Amino acid sequence: PQGASVSKFAELISAQPNEVIKRLFMLGQVLTLTQSMSDELIELVADDMGRKVRVVSPEEEFAVVYHDSDDDLKPRPPVVTVMGHVDHGKTSLLDAIRDTGVAQGEAGGITQHIGASVVSIDGRQITFIDTPGHEAFTAMRARGAQVTDIIVLVVAADDGVMPQTIEAINHARAAGVPIVVAVNKIDKPGANPDRVRQELVSYEVVPEEWGGTNMFVEVSAKKRLHIDDLLETILLQADVLELRANPDALASGFVIEANLDKGRGPVATVLIQRGTLKPGDSLVAGTSYGRVRALVDPRGTHVDAAGPADPVEILGLNSVPVAGDEFRVFEDERDARKLAEERALRERLAAQDAKSHMSLDDLFGRI
Ligand code: GTP
Ligand code: MG
Repeated sequence: PQGASVSKFAELISAQPNEVIKRLFMLGQVLTLTQSMSDELIELVADDMGRKVRVVSPEEEFAVVYHDSDDDLKPRPPVVTVMGHVDHGKTSLLDAIRDTGVAQGEAGGITQHIGASVVSIDGRQITFIDTPGHEAFTAMRARGAQVTDIIVLVVAADDGVMPQTIEAINHARAAGVPIVVAVNKIDKPGANPDRVRQELVSYEVVPEEWGGTNMFVEVSAKKRLHIDDLLETILLQADVLELRANPDALASGFVIEANLDKGRGPVATVLIQRGTLKPGDSLVAGTSYGRVRALVDPRGTHVDAAGPADPVEILGLNSVPVAGDEFRVFEDERDARKLAEERALRERLAAQDAKSHMSLDDLFGRI
């Protein structure tokens, strides 16, 4: 057990609750039946009463290995992360795909966060994740590579392979994700797409037409050239991967970004990997937990459900989770709360004093 109440503890070790309270009192702890005992206290009292107990952390108690049978797995949309060097046109390319104007609205013309969007082409969905190209945002790029099926590597034809181009290739490789190259800005006078191909060969990104395994598409985000070709290529690459997931399960996935909204409270954008998320579901995301009050899709529309490969905003969490946290829905809200609170407590304890060892009294004083 963990963090069990006095009465629950007594029940678990088949002892009289009064006996437990007496033992606690002798240890200097005045607790009532409903108050909870820490792991340390549980072990101490059990030992005192000649019982052998093993404290199982909720992490252990709720550990899961997802298993889906072949019948459970249904085709799902691809998740595509757009990566590349700063200013090579990632956001502009997504604007061209979505027919939006996000890039012009960005402060200093620089993307500073991860953004998810969804497009539909001939009835097929593609989930896009935009990442920043500025060198400071390595962690976001690594995260973007880890949650995706395909990476679209944007390389400006007038600038060629640059440091974050190489970084993106390394993230893709580390995550085992295929790369589709979008050679962008071909409208520019200094554009040299063939030089980009040659440069990429040194990093083992080789065009199919040269005997390699990478699909290349020459585009102009600004002039909206060959955008359809790029989308077709992405879908072709997705077909090769035969992406599937179980939609009929309790939802799980990753937090891609999270913040505290003045009006709406903690808001987390998650990418669902398995199952279907619905309002009313109880979930844990890192040290946060809560009941889904509302789900908002990337267009700002409230939705009743979000399934595999869907990015969706969650409202209703008790705190702001950390980007990269795993999230998971629980059947029982109490379990979600237990796991999240345990994690939060551990985090606080670790942060409080990493150097000096904490005494039991310190711990007990907090209960
Ligand atoms: P970060 O997110 O900060 O890494 O930048 P980004 O890769 O998203 O680049 P962004 O889309 O913000 O574009 C950078 C600049 O390049 C902007 O001034 C765009 O207008 C310009 N640009 C993007 N695509 C093209 C293109 O195809 N042709 C031309 N001529 N300019 C482009
Ligand atoms: Mg950008």
